[in-house]
Amino acid sequence: MAVIALKCPEINVTVVDLNADRIAAWNGPLENLPIYEPGLSAVVMEARGRNLFFSTEINSAIDKAEMIFMAVNTPTKTEGEGAGMAADMKYIESCAKTIAEVAKTDKIVVEKSTVPIRTAERIKEILDHEGNGVHFEILSNPEFLAEGTAINDLLDTDRVLIGGDSTTSGQKAVQELVDIYAHWIAPEKILTTNVWSSELSKLASNAMLAQRISSINSLSALCEKTGADINELSKAIGMDHRIGPHFLKASVGFGGSCFQKDILNLVYLCRHYGLEEVAEYWHQVVKINDYQKNRFAQKIIDHFGGDLTGKKIAILGWAFKANTNDSRESPAIDVAAKLLRAGAVLQIYDPMVSKESIFRDIDFYWEASKINELKSRITVLDSMSKLDFSFDAAALLTEWQEFKNLDFSNQLVFDGRGILSSSFYSIGKG
Ligand code: UGA
Repeated sequence: MAVIALKCPEINVTVVDLNADRIAAWNGPLENLPIYEPGLSAVVMEARGRNLFFSTEINSAIDKAEMIFMAVNTPTKTEGEGAGMAADMKYIESCAKTIAEVAKTDKIVVEKSTVPIRTAERIKEILDHEGNGVHFEILSNPEFLAEGTAINDLLDTDRVLIGGDSTTSGQKAVQELVDIYAHWIAPEKILTTNVWSSELSKLASNAMLAQRISSINSLSALCEKTGADINELSKAIGMDHRIGPHFLKASVGFGGSCFQKDILNLVYLCRHYGLEEVAEYWHQVVKINDYQKNRFAQKIIDHFGGDLTGKKIAILGWAFKANTNDSRESPAIDVAAKLLRAGAVLQIYDPMVSKESIFRDIDFYWEASKINELKSRITVLDSMSKLDFSFDAAALLTEWQEFKNLDFSNQLVFDGRGILSSSFYSIGKG
């Protein structure tokens, strides 16, 4: 929304949220915006107060808007039918209900959240049944930006996808959204489709990206058995122009709030339609990811003969990738949990993830009775200079620039970032 405001100064963009602290932070000092994203604060600085506003006045913003973007989260369901697989639609549904209650004039409602196919139908049902007789047009406009490169991805995007109904009013709504993006994006990059193709394209894109990572990670296991080098393999495979070099970097596993959730959602959809083989094919991408995270931690445990009691391990990197403060579904959480279970004492450092977030991630993982004992075995550092180099082993888990030139001579380092020239689990220079 900040980028739309930046590129379309004549359009007023109001971002609303129920969370007053969040909104206050968006209105606060630029160095404390709730999301760390390179280039974002400069965009906010230019547009905020001009045509970009942050507010908790949800009803009045709905009332005034001609177009409403729904960007609420759709986490994996934790209970009820489809628990552990399907997307939880409760936030989407409550958002649609609020729009239905409040809207007194016709609106275009844009699905920005990643949603299961045919969600637009459900939103329309709510809007039409619970609304005040005004006309709603629903568009699907999934987001393809990646964290850490979001601003660039938005400014110089591969494509914008807009799905709408084939009716005259549907096509008119599609055109209105096309006109917004056309302020800075070339027409040939703005793709219009039907709503369902658009919804499914988003899930399928993430599934295909994650599948490449699981493919290369599965081969990293074979490399370690055979003496082949996974980085050499990635390079050789990626030079085939039909395959291409991106998303072939072996790692400790993919993390982030999207890949796992979207694939599980896809698996659930396939099962719902009786496509068991297709569901199983995609499920394997998540299973290999779990295997890889587990394998990495097990490698460290095995190195110490199966018991880490009292062993000091440094965890370098907590974010699920570099250039973000987001640690949702970060492989670091699973690795740290397994090492702690094996008795390790951890020093954890990430340049951007706060101590509170790290402890929250760990709290989430364990039952309350174990938390205090665990926390007594964790020290979170606020600076790399505080690292106690007397550790028994270090696990490098995020590709932060800050970690690239560290001198770990004569120390045991397990590299999960897949960026060193030697093999995936390179064990120190010493
Ligand atoms: C992903 C997609 O890349 C975006 O296109 C999509 O819009 C977004 O999800 C979303 O649905 O919101 P994101 O999760 O922010 O973006 O980050 P990625 O760059 O895709 O990285 C995901 C994970 O894969 C990270 O843990 C990263 O370290 C890992 N990865 C990536 C690898 O292990 N190897 C690679 O070669 C590339």
